[in-house]
Amino acid sequence: MADLRDFIEQVKRANDIVDVIGSHLELRHSGANFMARCPFHGEKTPSFNVNRNLQIYKCFGCGESGDVIKFIEKYESCTFMEALEILAKRANLKMPETVAQKQDKDFSERKKKKDVYLQICRDTAVFYYKCYYSPTGAIARKYIEQRGFDAETVKKFGIGYSPDIESLVKYLKSKQYNLEDCVKCGVIQNGKYGYSDALFGRLIIPIFNMQGQVIAFGGRGLDDKTIARGKYKNTSETPLFVKNQNLFAINIAKEQKQQTALPNIVVVEGYMDVIAMYQAGFKRAVASMGTSLTENQAKWLSRLADTVYICYDGDAAGQKATVRGMDILDRAGLEVRVMTVPEKLDPDEYIKKYGKDAFEQLIEQALPLPDYKLKLLDNAFDIGSNDQTVRNNALPKYVQGALTMLKALDDVRQARYITAVSLKTGYSEDYFRRKLTEETTDEPLPDVTGTELSQEDKAKYFIAACILHGESYADITEKPICNSAFLSALYDYLLECKQSNVEPSMDMLYTVCPNAQSEQYAQILEWDFSKKRQEKNERYFNECRRLVTVEKLKRQREELMAKIRDNPEDSSLLAELSILSKKINDIR
Ligand code: UTP
Ligand code: MN
Repeated sequence: MADLRDFIEQVKRANDIVDVIGSHLELRHSGANFMARCPFHGEKTPSFNVNRNLQIYKCFGCGESGDVIKFIEKYESCTFMEALEILAKRANLKMPETVAQKQDKDFSERKKKKDVYLQICRDTAVFYYKCYYSPTGAIARKYIEQRGFDAETVKKFGIGYSPDIESLVKYLKSKQYNLEDCVKCGVIQNGKYGYSDALFGRLIIPIFNMQGQVIAFGGRGLDDKTIARGKYKNTSETPLFVKNQNLFAINIAKEQKQQTALPNIVVVEGYMDVIAMYQAGFKRAVASMGTSLTENQAKWLSRLADTVYICYDGDAAGQKATVRGMDILDRAGLEVRVMTVPEKLDPDEYIKKYGKDAFEQLIEQALPLPDYKLKLLDNAFDIGSNDQTVRNNALPKYVQGALTMLKALDDVRQARYITAVSLKTGYSEDYFRRKLTEETTDEPLPDVTGTELSQEDKAKYFIAACILHGESYADITEKPICNSAFLSALYDYLLECKQSNVEPSMDMLYTVCPNAQSEQYAQILEWDFSKKRQEKNERYFNECRRLVTVEKLKRQREELMAKIRDNPEDSSLLAELSILSKKINDIR
């Protein structure tokens, strides 16, 4: 892919920056330049400047500047490669296949299939949408009315209705789709009684990806009989809809961001919370759909805003998995604040009961993540109790919890919170400082999934994770021995990026290595790259690199020995062997 750089130039030549930006923003001629209101920060008077001669843009308000690819990257909140692809498509240019893609025989086949799936999902959404407004949809419309959602909101979210078990199947058939394809993308099921609509009788909520394509559906039961089989049913995992990798309404948040920079994003649990917030004017809510947050979701959120408010239902908010999700956001560099909704209400219920201004206040009262963790400790351990026995029992547990909280912080925040925690507990600041250094030195290297991997395999995952993370010390020059298609594709991608001087991106993980097992993704995603661990990670990285190099050299030595057994007379082989053995010894 040495020709990637040429391709980039070709794409840029084929996409005039004024034309591209002009198709998104209202550009006004101003001397030699074009001006617009900047989409990257809120402003009333235009200070966003596009220069045709130089093929660049620059905002004199916020300083944001770059070429046409950078503009698309920012505007579409996507990666460099995705931006390149968008512009290539716009100019009818075919993206060059990467080495990894070339080796993967099914790549283009899979890509074509994905396009078919997207088309099916789109048509299915249209079908449901039409049903909602048809006579049979009356029950759904009544439900929506009862919940107080208006027509504009319904339209914005593309809400639909599935009238019965077979209509969708018939419809898809009439559209000439292969029904097995429809099963593969999750819109229908193939069961004992043939093809059927798994979401039948339900209110339909389409789920879109960041690019605004329908990729899945959530269906809410409207009567008790349906609800007995699950209040919500969602499309099962498909090539388009990978579990834990989506955020409901991310498309809407992105769209808002394109109009004016977002002050923050609010993550809630439920579809209905997002929808209710939208209608109340909070058009920057996304839903995690009942699961805890992952690193990939953190990446998307960080492309849209710097601050994320978490607004979970009372009982879910304090749970371990939830707090872990918040830590993931924190580690991704997001400012995390946690909201508490009183009376165990969810955002939708709260807004209905108290109005949007009251909800706005909850946002303002949200606690920074460390403070929120201390609050959870307060709730769990009553160190202020009048009963001395209670107090004495609670204090060490509180202190232990506080230490865990402190450990997750960078130095600056740590210093601040050590003071707070010390005041609160009566333990000296020194005590906490000492404990923190003790614990970090004794801490063993993490085992991220608990699966039994050899040292070498673990090392390969870690190395790849470091590079994808953009860790400054992480560099490799050659491909290690890869026992899995996953690692092999991943390393091809990493080396290719290096060769063509492109920064590898964590987001490419699912593109480069589609259809891997979730443990394999986890081995890449779940390492701790907090600042605290940096030194340790760097040491471990070097250790890992040594391990895989030795492994590879040893393999070469084995092969050489086999050759020598076949040609014992060949002295050049023997010379090679001695060089190789020396190399191995040197590295060890
Ligand atoms: P909630 O029950 O809080 O959802 O579950 P909600 O949006 O407030 O639902 P309403 O107001 O009762 O209609 C949170 C999210 O968890 C997922 C859905 O994504 C839901 O929005 N969920 C919940 C399911 O997938 N299945 C379920 O049976 C329940
Ligand atoms: Mn609800």
